[in-house]
Amino acid sequence: MILYASEYGTTKQISQELANLLNCQAYPYDAPDLIEKITDTSFLILASDVLLLKINKGFLRFIKSQKNLISQKKIGILLVCGSPDDKEINGVKLGISQYIPNFPEDIVKQALLIKAINGKIDFEITDQHKRMIEIMKGHFLVEPFDATPLNDLPGIAREIKKKLG
Ligand SMILES: Cc1cc2nc3c(=O)[nH]c(=O)nc-3n(C[C@H](O)[C@H](O)[C@H](O)COP(=O)(O)O)c2cc1C
Repeated sequence: MILYASEYGTTKQISQELANLLNCQAYPYDAPDLIEKITDTSFLILASDVLLLKINKGFLRFIKSQKNLISQKKIGILLVCGSPDDKEINGVKLGISQYIPNFPEDIVKQALLIKAINGKIDFEITDQHKRMIEIMKGHFLVEPFDATPLNDLPGIAREIKKKLG
C-alpha cells in the first residue's frame, strides 16, 4: 500500500494514480485503522511532499512511532518536490541528499527504492506559506510550476513492482 502526506494535494494525486496502477490502496498517514492496514500489507511506499527542505512533520512522527511495524515491510520512499535533483541554489542544498536524512536512518537503509519526482506549486493555494513564498520568489522561485510527471507514473509503477513486488 501507499501511505502519503500531502499539504497541497499533488502527492495525494500521484499516490492515488500509482495505487490504481499497482492495484493497491493509498491512504493519508492520518487515516483511521492504519495499523491494521499496514499490518496486512507486504509492501509500503512512503510518499511525502517536501516543504521548506523538510518532510511533513506529522508524517515523520507517524513513521517514527511505527518504526518496528514499518521495518517489517518492503519499503519504498517517494518524495514529491520542486527540486528532485541534488543541486545548490543560492547556497541552499536541495534534492534527495538534503531531504532523505529527515527519515529514520534504519528505514532509509532498508528502503528498496528511493525516488524524488517533481510536484507543482500554485501560488493561489499556498496560503499557509504566503510569507515563505514571497521570500522564495525573491530568490529563485519566480513562476508557479506544474511539472508533475503524470505521464511517467506507469514507468514508476513498473519500477516499484520490480523492486518491491
Ligand atoms: C511553501 C513551500 C515550500 C517548498 N519548499 C520546497 C523545498 O524546500 N524543496 C523542494 O524541492 N520543493 C519545495 N516546494 C515544492 C513542493 O514540494 C511541491 O509544491 C509539491 O508538489 C507539494 O506537494 P503537495 O501538493 O503534495 O503538498 C515547496 C512548496 C511550497 C508551497
